[in-house]
Amino acid sequence: MNEITRAAALLRAGELVAFPTETVYGLGADATNPAAVAKIFAAKGRPADHPLIVHLPDATHLDRWAREIPEEARQLAEKFWPGALTLILKRQPHAPDAVTGGQDTVGLRVPNHPVALELLKTFDGGIAAPSANKFGRISPTTAQHVKDDLGDAVPLILDGGPCEVGIESTIVDLTGRRAMILRPGMVSAFDIGRVLGRVPLSPDDPLAPPDLAKTRASGTLEAHYAPRTPLVLMPDDSLPIALRNAIVQKETVAVLATHPAPFELPGVVWRAAPADPAGFAHDLYANLRELDALGCHRIVVQKPVGQPWQAVLDRLKRAATGSGRLE
Ligand code: TXA
Ligand code: MG
Repeated sequence: MNEITRAAALLRAGELVAFPTETVYGLGADATNPAAVAKIFAAKGRPADHPLIVHLPDATHLDRWAREIPEEARQLAEKFWPGALTLILKRQPHAPDAVTGGQDTVGLRVPNHPVALELLKTFDGGIAAPSANKFGRISPTTAQHVKDDLGDAVPLILDGGPCEVGIESTIVDLTGRRAMILRPGMVSAFDIGRVLGRVPLSPDDPLAPPDLAKTRASGTLEAHYAPRTPLVLMPDDSLPIALRNAIVQKETVAVLATHPAPFELPGVVWRAAPADPAGFAHDLYANLRELDALGCHRIVVQKPVGQPWQAVLDRLKRAATGSGRLE
C-alpha cells in the first residue's frame, strides 16, 4: 500500500492525517465524521467552537457542502482553485456542526499541492483541516514542524516538502451582499476585485456589517501565530538605535529584516529574508520558528511597508500580539 492509499484508509477509519498544502500543513480528518473531527480539536488543544476549512478534491464538490452558491463564488473558484483561497458559503444541512462551529456557514478550499490533491482524489470527499500546529502557535510549513508540534498525536504525517506559499489562505466571505475578506493572504483583495469587478470589503471597512466581530474566525484572533520569544515590529530606520539600546541593556536580540546587517553587534543574530512579499512569506514561519528557538530576549522584525505586504504584515502583527506568553 502506498502512503496516499494508507492515508485515505486512515481517514476513512476516523483517524487523523497531517498533509502538505501549498499554504501550510493541515491536520486532516474526514469532514463528515464528527468523532474524527473531534480528534483534531483534541490534538491541537483548540476550542471546539472554532470552525474548520473543508478541503475538496475539485470545484465540482462545492454543491455537496454549500447551498445558495452565488455566481461570485463560482467565478472565484474558477479563477483561483486549486489555490490559496477559502470561500465562506452557506452550508448544506449535513455539514456537521463539529466542522462549522455550529454556524450556518462552511469554509471551502481546493488546495494546490500534488500530495493534497492526490489524497483528496483518493479519499474522494471533504477533508476538514486546520493548520497542523498547537492552538495559537506558528503554523507549520514543513513535515518536521508538524512532528515537532504534534508528533505522537498524529498517526501519519505526509511529507510534501516545504510549502510553496508559506502563509495561510485568504478567506473571503460570500454570504453577505458584498464579498468580504476575513483573513488576508497571498491572493490579494486586488486579485479578487479584478475577478468580481468590484473590490471586496475588509473587516475594518466602514461599510462592513457591525456584527462581523461575531464571526468566529480563529485566524482573526489577535493573539495567534505566536512565537514564545517576545516579538516587536520596527520600522527599518529605527533598527540601529533600538539594537544599540538592547546591547546597553545586555539583551540578546534576533533580527528578521529584508537586508543583511549593516553592522555587527554582540548579542545580535541577524537573519536576512527575501525582500519580496512572496519570498518573505515563503520563509516567514520557518524563520520565526528558528529565531524563536535561539531563546533570545527579543525578536525584532523589520516592519514591511506597502499594499503587497498586507498579508505578511497581518501575520507579523498577530505574532507580535501573542508572543512571549508562557504556556
Ligand atoms: O491555508 C489554510 O487556510 C490552511 C490550510 C491547511 O488549508 N488552513 C488554515 O486553517 O489556516 P485554520 O483552521 O488554522 O484557519 C482556518 C480559518 C480560521 O480562522 C477559521 O475560523 C476560519 O478559517 N473559518 C473556517 N470556517 C469558517 C466559517 N464558516 N466562517 C468563518 N470563518 C471560518
Ligand atoms: Mg491555524
